[in-house]
Amino acid sequence: MMQENINVMARVRPLSERAGLNQKSCLSVDAANSTIYVEKNKEFYKFNKVFDENASQEAIFDTVAKPIINGFLEGKNGTIFAYGQTASGKTFTMLGPNINEHNDDNGIIPRTIKEIFSVLDAKVENKPDSFKYSIKCSFIEIYNEQQYDLLKKTTLKNNINKIAIYQKATFGKAEEKEVESYDACLKLLKHGWNQRTTASTSMNERSSRSHAIFIIRLATEELAETKVITRSSCLNLVDLAGFERQSQTNNIGVQIRESYAINNSLSTFTHVIRQILDGKKFISYLDSKLTTLLRDSLGGNSKTTVIFNIHQDAQFITDTVSVLEFAKSVKEIKNTISINKSVSCEDVETWKTEVLRLRQENEQLKSHQQHDEITDKEAYQRVMLYFENDTAQTKARRVEIQKKTAEYKRRLAMLSVKKDDSDSDDEL
Ligand SMILES: Nc1ncnc2c1ncn2[C@@H]1O[C@H](COP(=O)(O)OP(=O)(O)O)[C@@H](O)[C@H]1O
Ligand SMILES: [Mg+2]
Repeated sequence: MMQENINVMARVRPLSERAGLNQKSCLSVDAANSTIYVEKNKEFYKFNKVFDENASQEAIFDTVAKPIINGFLEGKNGTIFAYGQTASGKTFTMLGPNINEHNDDNGIIPRTIKEIFSVLDAKVENKPDSFKYSIKCSFIEIYNEQQYDLLKKTTLKNNINKIAIYQKATFGKAEEKEVESYDACLKLLKHGWNQRTTASTSMNERSSRSHAIFIIRLATEELAETKVITRSSCLNLVDLAGFERQSQTNNIGVQIRESYAINNSLSTFTHVIRQILDGKKFISYLDSKLTTLLRDSLGGNSKTTVIFNIHQDAQFITDTVSVLEFAKSVKEIKNTISINKSVSCEDVETWKTEVLRLRQENEQLKSHQQHDEITDKEAYQRVMLYFENDTAQTKARRVEIQKKTAEYKRRLAMLSVKKDDSDSDDEL
């Protein structure tokens, strides 16, 4: 276990290119020294890394996501948040302008999927007999303090399936889809993203008012020396709702309620961070859906990076300063990270013994199935009746034995254990 501060990075988006907007920047960026200077309050903000408006999606991925992915691949949980006011570039950073297989503009999520599969597939190619993995994904949207499953196909009116959130910080009831390749995973991401966009066009501003979380779960099994090492880890990729000021928006009715719900989950997020920094014993993670889901990422067992998206347009200066001040406090949070790894207590001797034991059981079952020699008619009928019920079970058990034996032999072969009589190749 080790303690590590949350990594805080900032990315300043370019001013809009639309003609006639007459935008002015309210800050200057010194990428080499990782600082942002705000003229109005004469304040320098220093972070782990600062990107100016010319930073490429690739550079962002390499610096922000790669270290988290490397940890994830060795069994550490990881989280990447994008935080900032509406239109500051959160979705651009996490997803990109659209999701395509070959797109230089792809954001962190599609690039992460590509990287994960390419590393894992290379490992399998390298050690086909001693390394296995499985990847499962879910995609959740939190809107108005309700959780929706973006991977579930439904014909509900709003096109999105609402799911209950449980008090335990698990994603238990969201659909987890197993995916075997980069293509399949990207397809899943696109599907979820379309569901989110569909919902947002039928409900004004929904996508900027909701949080979207793409979750990747990895389980690996590796043979090392005489042990089986299993690892599991979870990666949360989060596109947060826009930071929005009541005073600067003209919300009415339903919109106020939505806005409140968003601000509630965002303000719980900030409140939780404050409690952690103050060393409070009780942290109110359960006060919002977002913090319930992501409690491990804030002060828990996760390598976490928050990328603060900054709008440099002078008209947003008040919000920009609040975001920068908030970023300054997030830097202080420490997470305690451990590797979710277990080493089996089985070893070569256990496998050999198991092969022998399975072979004996198999022999018994074999003779059990060979009933030709029985001559006594009544006994024969009794046995036949017994076998009718028993045959399927016996067959299934023998198949299971074959599989297990093959697996143990694979491990032994992999370890180049000297062949002895426990490993003679008789037919099962
Ligand atoms: N770094 C960037 N480079 C080019 N365009 C960007 C950048 N960041 C944001 N944009 C553009 O600005 C607009 C708003 O960005 P978006 O990611 O939707 O903001 P948010 O998700 O924070 O509301 C989009 O049209 C997006 O393509
Ligand atoms: Mg967005």
